[in-house]
Amino acid sequence: MKLLVTGGAGYVGSHTVNALLTQGHEVVVLDNLSTGHKWALQDCELIDIDLRDEANLTKSLQGRGFEGVLHFAAKSLVGESKNHPAMYYQNNVGGTTNLVRAMQSAGIPRLVFSSTAAIFGNPVSDFIDEEHPKAPINVYGQTKLVVEHMLKAVCESSAFIATCLRYFNAAGANNEANLGEWHEPETHLIPNALRAAAGTGNPLTLFGDDYPTSDGTCVRDYIHVDDLASAHVAAIEQMDSSSGFNSFNLGNGNGYSVKEVIAACEKAVGADIPYTIGPRRDGDPATLVASSAKARNDLGWTPKHDSIDEIAQSAWNWECYRRDQLA
Ligand code: UFG
Repeated sequence: MKLLVTGGAGYVGSHTVNALLTQGHEVVVLDNLSTGHKWALQDCELIDIDLRDEANLTKSLQGRGFEGVLHFAAKSLVGESKNHPAMYYQNNVGGTTNLVRAMQSAGIPRLVFSSTAAIFGNPVSDFIDEEHPKAPINVYGQTKLVVEHMLKAVCESSAFIATCLRYFNAAGANNEANLGEWHEPETHLIPNALRAAAGTGNPLTLFGDDYPTSDGTCVRDYIHVDDLASAHVAAIEQMDSSSGFNSFNLGNGNGYSVKEVIAACEKAVGADIPYTIGPRRDGDPATLVASSAKARNDLGWTPKHDSIDEIAQSAWNWECYRRDQLA
């Protein structure tokens, strides 16, 4: 298929571009490189446009023969979203609205949308499936949920097909393609722990050890970024046999506490990683673990890198590569 990937220079986006190219799809990336990286761009055309620029966006999609869009471009930091809510709504909701209108005007019928576990808020069950109540506790999650509602309405009123993929905790790296996670500022646990170990980041703080979990620290479902990428490939490829609006939760179904993740990082590094205990971080639910039964059944998707040790090891290999590149 000929596909447009917005945010294809970002973390999950670039790994998905790599997977799509490997499967023989033709890919064009649309990215304004505000948080994406030139080095993460795979061997394909770049359209350097901001999704908020509706006129140019609409023009750039006309007559290109795109059969589908995978939409990653978004603001995605929970803490930042709290301080800049209007910016988050403008980018994530406004940007996606512009994209859908431009797709309709160019006659592009298929969209795969990057959604998030943050749409669920505080879980009311051990495993979060697609029907779990949606009550986001941060602005980032709100913006993604609003977009899901918008896409559902568009699908119900036209022949548009949209699939929302709700990621739990994206982690790890594709060492063969020299791709990995690089956010500035970095807020995620695994890169923060590894950079503290390598001496390339700040000392590690563990945000809260008084949660109602087995060791008092937050529990998350870490999913390898290449497994997220393969879910996107499956989602776009199966759209020929589906219609309307669909959603899938993507995780391994295994919860690891912050302390267990730090232990996996220590194993990868081969040394202790010192940390201090700080207060809880705003907007962090105690536990978030996916039920991905629907994705496994309907997309035929199976995560291949489901061990936290393998995820931490791949992230560490990537950190070492980046450190050597920058040296
Ligand atoms: N943590 C620390 N120290 C750090 C960084 C994180 O203790 O330096 C803790 C957090 O408090 C949390 C856990 O490690 O308990 C995981 O935090 P991350 O920042 O790595 O990931 P989040 O669970 O906050 O974020 C993920 C996705 C977001 C999504 C969110 C939903 O990355 O996109 O889940 O809650 F919005």
